[in-house]
Amino acid sequence: MVEDVDGNRFLDCAAGIAVNSTGHSHPAVVAAIVEQARRFLHKSGTDFYYETQVRLAEEMAAIVPIDGPVRSFFGNSGTEAVEAAIKLARYKTGRPFLVAFLGSFHGRTLGALSLTASKAVQRKGFGPPAPGVFHAPYADCYRCPVGQRPESCAAECLDFLEDQIFVQLVSPDEVAAIVVEPIQGEGGYLVPPQQFHDRLQALARRHGILLVVDEVQSGMGRTGKMFASEHYGLRADIVTIAKGVASGLPLGITAARAEIMDWSPGAHASTFGGNPVSCAAALATIELLKASLVENAAVVGAHLLEGLRALAARHPLIGDVRGKGLMIGVELVRDRRTKERATSERDRVIDEAFRRGLLILGAGRNALRLSPPLVLTKAQADTALGILDEAIGAVERSAGLA
Ligand SMILES: Cc1ncc(COP(=O)(O)O)c(C=O)c1O
Repeated sequence: MVEDVDGNRFLDCAAGIAVNSTGHSHPAVVAAIVEQARRFLHKSGTDFYYETQVRLAEEMAAIVPIDGPVRSFFGNSGTEAVEAAIKLARYKTGRPFLVAFLGSFHGRTLGALSLTASKAVQRKGFGPPAPGVFHAPYADCYRCPVGQRPESCAAECLDFLEDQIFVQLVSPDEVAAIVVEPIQGEGGYLVPPQQFHDRLQALARRHGILLVVDEVQSGMGRTGKMFASEHYGLRADIVTIAKGVASGLPLGITAARAEIMDWSPGAHASTFGGNPVSCAAALATIELLKASLVENAAVVGAHLLEGLRALAARHPLIGDVRGKGLMIGVELVRDRRTKERATSERDRVIDEAFRRGLLILGAGRNALRLSPPLVLTKAQADTALGILDEAIGAVERSAGLA
C-alpha cells in the first residue's frame, strides 16, 4: 500500500517498475539493511572482498538458470548489468556484432540503449547508437509478425534472423551474443511460445553465439518461478538481473558461466557495484522469495489472470490478456477485429485507476502492465480487478464503446 501526502491510499500494482518484490519496506529486508549499515557501508568489491558480496555470488551460482559453475559481476542497475554482458560477450568471443529484438528494452546507457528497440523517444537525440547491433522481430503472438496461428507456429518470426540477417547482413560467426528477454517487459509484457526460445537457443548454440538472457524485469520470482527462463527450460550463457533482486536498493548482476567470465583483473569494474547494503538486501529478498513469495506470485498471479480474462469477456476494450505469475499485460484495442491500438484509452485507464486508488503502468504502445509486489494477496488482487473493471468501463463509456 502507498499513502500520498494528502493521505490518499493506493494499492500498488506497479511496484516502482517491478522493483518492490517483497512489498514496501519488508521488515526482514529493512533489518538486513540496518544490520549491514551498522557494520559498514562501502568497501568496493573491486578491490576487497566482503562476506555479503561473496554470499550473494554463491547464492546467484545456486539459483541462476546457467549450467555449471557461475561467476557474477555486480553493478548498480539493469543497464549496467547489460553493459557488462555486452562487454563480456565481445571480450570472450572476440566477435563484434550483437543481435537483439524489436520491442526490447535493455536500458539507457549507450551500449544497452543500442540494443533497446522499444520506443523511438528512448533513442531520439542520442544517436548514432553503438554500431554492430541487428534487430529481429520478437514473438508478439497477438500480432504475429509473420501471420502465423498459435496452433501451427514454428517460431517463423525467427526466419528473419536466420534467413535474412544471418544471410544478408552479418555472418553468424561474427556475432558475439543474442540478447533476449524471456518475456518482453517494456515492449508490452509479451509471452513468447515455447518454440521461440527453443529455436533461438538452438540457433545460438549452432553458431557459437552466446545467449544473454535479460531477466532484469522477469526475474526474481515475478513470473511464479525464480526466473522466467525456467518456464522455457532456457539455459543461458549470461543472465542479467536487477530490479526486484534487492527489494528497491540499487543492484545489478551479470551472472555468467565461469568459463566465460574469465576476464583479467582490471578489465571491468565498478566502484559502487554490489555495495554491501544492497547485497544484504538481496540476500534477505532471496530468502523471502524462496520461502513463499515465488509460490505466492504463481498462485495469486493465476487468480489475477483468471479475473482479467473474465473482465475481457465483458469489456470490448480488452484485446488480449497475457502473462505469467505477477507479470501481466492487458492489451487494449479500439476494435477486436482490426486490433487498432487503443493508445490514448490505455493512458486514460491508467489515470482512471489512479483516481480510484490503483497504481498501474503502461507497457508497449497500448498495454496495461500489472507488476505488483509479490506479497499481493488474492483479496488485494480482487480489489485491483474491481477498480480495473470500473476504470475500463468509464473509458469505454466515454469512448462510445460500451
Ligand atoms: C528487461 C530490462 N532490462 C534492462 C532494464 C534497465 O534497467 P535499469 O532501469 O535498472 O537500468 C530494464 C528496465 O526497465 C528492463 O526491463
